[in-house]
Amino acid sequence: MSYLWIKTAHIVFVTSWFAGLFYLPRIFVNLAMVSPGSTAEKARLMLMAGKLYRFMLPLALLALASGVWMWLGYGVGRGPDSGWMHGKLGIVLLLVGYHHACGRLLRGFEGDRNRRSHRWYRVFNEVPVLLLVAAVTLVVVKPF
Ligand code: HEM
Repeated sequence: MSYLWIKTAHIVFVTSWFAGLFYLPRIFVNLAMVSPGSTAEKARLMLMAGKLYRFMLPLALLALASGVWMWLGYGVGRGPDSGWMHGKLGIVLLLVGYHHACGRLLRGFEGDRNRRSHRWYRVFNEVPVLLLVAAVTLVVVKPF
């Protein structure tokens, strides 16, 4: 399979994974604003959040596998001047941690244990934006 087809698949899987990383915390903002009596609205939001989180895992795994294929399979980002790849892998670890944190927060809502405010989730929602900008800058510009 040619390198460019793998890179194409990588960008598509990364983009799809980020759609979930952006939208799931937005659902958490709405869940944190649901008034205690609105069980129907909470149930609707929980259904969306559960489906989205389950959908994000295979996309994350495909994004990471296609990246590793280019990195270890084709040796891109392995020679000298590969500081950008090391930086990028650091960001990937943070993204995997963020994905995992979303799962824990979702289980918190499922068990009615959430105590965080919608403002906290609005700030939490901005984190993947910063990580995306940093990762894409490193891999496209390769500054070091
Ligand atoms: C284990 C995780 C990952 C590895 C090993 C990896 C590795 C790579 C490699 C080797 C390339 C090709 C670079 C080139 O041809 O110049 C690449 C391209 C790319 N990666 Fe990743 N990647 C990973 C995860 C991610 C993530 C999480 C993002 C988004 C935040 C991302 C965004 C991109 C983009 C946008 C490109 C295309 C760059 C270009 O066309 O110049 N990757 N990745």
